[in-house]
Amino acid sequence: MFVGGITRMERVISNDIEPPYLSLVTGPPGSMKTSFSLSMISNHLKRTGEFGLYCTVEETVDSLLKTCNSMGLELPTNLQITDLTELRKENEAMDYLKFTKRMIQHFKQERGSQFSVFILDSLGAIYSLTSVDEEMRKKMFGFFDFLRTQGLYTFIITERQPGEHAELQGNEGFIADGIINLGLDRRNGKIVRTLQIEKMRHVRHSMEKQAIDISSGSVTILGPLFD
Ligand SMILES: Nc1ncnc2c1ncn2[C@@H]1O[C@H](COP(=O)(O)OP(=O)(O)OP(=O)(O)O)[C@@H](O)[C@H]1O
Ligand SMILES: [Mg+2]
Repeated sequence: MFVGGITRMERVISNDIEPPYLSLVTGPPGSMKTSFSLSMISNHLKRTGEFGLYCTVEETVDSLLKTCNSMGLELPTNLQITDLTELRKENEAMDYLKFTKRMIQHFKQERGSQFSVFILDSLGAIYSLTSVDEEMRKKMFGFFDFLRTQGLYTFIITERQPGEHAELQGNEGFIADGIINLGLDRRNGKIVRTLQIEKMRHVRHSMEKQAIDISSGSVTILGPLFD
């Protein structure tokens, strides 16, 4: 997934991950959480022919396709994009987690083990649509647990400001197997895009912040950044 999907990622991690594996992709607005995830999973799906489900809660499919066009990224046909932004308008009392769970079960039934990748964009959007109380936290825990039992590579996109912890509601960071933090660093009047692995269970990885570049539809590791 990582080594095949991101150019020079083998310099950052010593071995790749095996599903089930749940990673948080965190970062501030514009740090390319969406582009990074789309590019990595597209590469994976093109290479393996497996099936992936991308669930967008805050951005319309139209907007996602514009992002891809701008990056020169062609989405594979074996990636299904589901737009929850439409549902949001129709039904305010909607249980998004339950809906998403059913959708995953449906594709598991239809595709079996070919269905291997699931992305949720984003966790913050789900939280903003529901009241977050103890009940919701339990539900989210159950949802993460469910994702793990499905044997999927899961990427949960999570907004996060620099210096903040990865968890939005207290426990996501502990439940996740991996945390990949994307960022924007200001250097010499310029903004540099960065990637830093904060956590990756079962993998020996670099702790350094890496400069990255996204061009012609793929993410490239440029090398570690030093202060
Ligand atoms: N063709 C391109 N090549 C490189 N960078 C681009 C290109 N097109 C857009 N960008 C950059 O991508 C950024 C948006 O990326 P993306 O939508 O993936 O970020 P995000 O972290 O998901 O943001 P949000 O929190 O708003 O969802 C833009 O702000 C712009 O800097
Ligand atoms: Mg986004």
